[in-house]
Amino acid sequence: MIESAAQKHEMRPDAKSGKKYDPLDPEVKQSPYPYYEKMRREQPIIWLENMKAFAVAGYDDVDAMLKDPATYTSTKFWPELLGEYDPVPEVPPMISMDPPNHTHLRKLTTKAFTPSKVAQLQNRAGEIANALVDDIIAKHGQEGQFDWAWEFTALFPVTVIAEFLGVPTERRAEFKVWVDDILSAANRLAYSPERLAHIANSRDSLRAFFEELYDLRAANPGPDLISAFIQAEVNGEKLTRSEVLQMSVLLLIGGVETTTNLLGNTLVELDRHPEVYARVRQDPSLIGPLLEEVLRYNPPVQMIFRHATKDTELGGVKIPKGSTMIPLLASANRDETRFPNGEVFDIDRRIESPLMSFGQGPHFCLGSYLTRMEAKVALEVVFRRFAELSPVSDHVHWIDSYFARGPHTLPVRFKVR
Ligand code: HEM
Repeated sequence: MIESAAQKHEMRPDAKSGKKYDPLDPEVKQSPYPYYEKMRREQPIIWLENMKAFAVAGYDDVDAMLKDPATYTSTKFWPELLGEYDPVPEVPPMISMDPPNHTHLRKLTTKAFTPSKVAQLQNRAGEIANALVDDIIAKHGQEGQFDWAWEFTALFPVTVIAEFLGVPTERRAEFKVWVDDILSAANRLAYSPERLAHIANSRDSLRAFFEELYDLRAANPGPDLISAFIQAEVNGEKLTRSEVLQMSVLLLIGGVETTTNLLGNTLVELDRHPEVYARVRQDPSLIGPLLEEVLRYNPPVQMIFRHATKDTELGGVKIPKGSTMIPLLASANRDETRFPNGEVFDIDRRIESPLMSFGQGPHFCLGSYLTRMEAKVALEVVFRRFAELSPVSDHVHWIDSYFARGPHTLPVRFKVR
C-alpha cells in the first residue's frame, strides 16, 4: 500500500512495532495519532499505569463521558492540570466545576461570547493581524524568513484576548510567557526544581498583575470584560474578587495557546497538503472548511480530564470510583464510525458528527466562535499580504506536551505581495 504524505509524517516505527500509547513518551508526544488509531482498533479504553488513569479513545465513549457530569466530575480538572501552579487556588475556575454551580457562572460568561459579540471584535482582530505583519516586514524586510510560531501566532491571540479583557497590550509578550509557563505545569512531574521555580514565578506575576488590574477597574470601570465581571451579579450576588481573578485567568489561559496552536497547526497541514494550500490561496472562502478540518485532524487540545464519582462501566470496562479519566478528544475526531476515512485530511469532507475539539456537554468551549473568527481573520490577512508563506523544513518540532498540540517553532519563508 502506498502511504500518503500525511501518513508518512505521522507513522513512526514504534507505533508499527506495537508500542502502547503512553502520553509521557516523547515519541508519542511528537506523533500521537498512530497510537490513538491502534487503541481504537484494539483496545479503546486502556489503563495508563504511569499516569494512574484510564485513557479513552473512541468517539461514543468520550461523548458519553463529557455529557454525564454526575458520573464524571470536572472538579479535579484544574488541580490535575496545574497542581500548585494555579494562580488563584482559593476558588475553582468554571472549567473545574460541576452543574449547578457551573451553570450560574456559565450563563454569565456566555453572554460575552455570543457570535454577535465576537463579530464586534472582528475589525479590531484584522487591525491586530495587519499590525503584526507590519512589524514582521519592518524587522525582516520584503522577503526572507521569520518564525510563524513566535512572531505571529503567539502574539496575535494574546493581543486580541488582552484587549477584550482590558489588559494593556504593551504587556502582551510578558503575558504570553506567563501563560505558557503556567500551562507547562501540566508536565510538572518531569521538571527540574529550577524550571518549577520559574513556573511559580510566572504564576505569582500573573496573579499580581490581575490584582492590580482589578483595583484599577473597580475604581474606574470601562467597556472591558473585567469591568463587566466586577459589576455582574449571579443569582443576585456579585462575584467575589477571587472569582473575577480566576475567570480572567481562565479566559487568558483558555484563549491564548489554543488559538496560537490552531494557527500553527494550520500552516503545518497546508505545507503537508500543497494541493489544499493552492486551492485556499485561490479561493479564500475555503478558509472556513480548512479550519474545521484542521480542528478535526490535528486539534490544539488533545485531551482533557475527568474523575469517576462512583463505580461505573464504560465501553464494557469497569471503572472504579475515583478513577482519573482521560478522554482523548483528538482520537475521537478520527473515529471511523463517525468520520469515514478519519485518518485522511480532507477539507471537502461532510462533517456529520460534532467535532470533539471543543469538548461536548456543559463545558463545551466558550471561545469556539472567538477562535474561529480570530483564525479566519488572521489567515485572510496573511494570505493577502504574503505572496509566499511556507515552512522552511517539513520537520516539525512540536511543543513538549501531551495535552496541547502545536509547533514549538515554525520557521517560514515569506515574500511580501
Ligand atoms: C482552537 C481553540 C480552542 C480549543 C481547541 C479549545 C478547547 C476547549 C475544550 C476542549 C474545552 C472543554 C473543556 C472541558 O470539557 O473540560 C474548552 C473549554 C473552555 N474554553 Fe476553549 N478552546 C479554544 C479556544 C478558546 C478561546 C479563544 C477561549 C476564550 C477566550 C476559550 C475559553 C474556554 C473556556 C472559558 C472554557 C470552559 C467552559 C466551561 O467550563 O463551561 N477557549 N475549550
